[in-house]
Amino acid sequence: MTARAGAGALGEAVARVRAARAAVAFTGAGISTPSGLPDFRSPQGLWATVDPTMVASRSAFERDPWRFYQFYRERLDRLRHAAPNAAHRALAALERAGRLRAVITQNVDGLHQAAGSQRVIELHGNLREAVCPRCGQRWPIAVVVAALAQDRLPRCDRCAAVLKPNVVLFEDLVPADAWEAATALARTADLMLVVGSSLQVVPAASLPQETLDAGGVLLIVNREPTPYDHRAAVVLHDDAARVLPALAAALGLGEDRSDAPTNSPVQPVE
Ligand code: APR
Repeated sequence: MTARAGAGALGEAVARVRAARAAVAFTGAGISTPSGLPDFRSPQGLWATVDPTMVASRSAFERDPWRFYQFYRERLDRLRHAAPNAAHRALAALERAGRLRAVITQNVDGLHQAAGSQRVIELHGNLREAVCPRCGQRWPIAVVVAALAQDRLPRCDRCAAVLKPNVVLFEDLVPADAWEAATALARTADLMLVVGSSLQVVPAASLPQETLDAGGVLLIVNREPTPYDHRAAVVLHDDAARVLPALAAALGLGEDRSDAPTNSPVQPVE
């Protein structure tokens, strides 16, 4: 029986998190929309106006790096002004209280770490750094931001190849170490808290099934329905920035902003 909307579902969610001994969070772009970063598949999401195969695939990057960086310049600029929101901070508070083992995220914005989460598995890479696709040299993302500000493509100092943000593009593989850590966490979780993901993109979206197969339960907080709703113990079609702080508060983990870092992980170029 799935608990759905309203106070009953929130109460059931609190009880499930309280009872869990090995809870893990699985997050997507929806947890960061309250921070001003658009998601992808909401009606107002990025893919509503941009074809991802033109700007977010490996072949797009290789075929037309300028078009690629037009898209990423805007994402990087938005990220410079983004800060963690109450949902990120609630997950960090749950981890500090020993009620969450880790956050597995599809996001590349670094806002979980900026909110204080310590164990974060980034399945799709990050926008803190760039990498040379030819020689593998890594660079702080500030190098990319500086080049774009001068209308130049960012190039490797060592081999002159065009640098790529260290994110997993369509056609790329998820980093093996991240995938291994994420599947181990999902397979040993007695509760997976899914927050802000449409659960459309594999292999990431197969992780909730790993938890179910291992006898764990799902708790889904997502504004819109997901393909896993009918297999979840609790579904809340609501704003994560409202539900997660309420859940943390019900567990006695009030909004402690005193030590919550507010800096964006993408440091502006001085
Ligand atoms: N609270 C709860 N849910 C929200 C909120 C919010 N504040 N804002 C948006 N959502 C929901 C949307 O309804 C949507 O179902 O979050 C979900 C986000 O889904 P997607 O936009 O598909 O993002 P995500 O699941 O993270 O996408 C996975 O796809 O394009 C690739 O690499 C990209 O990592 C991304 C992957």
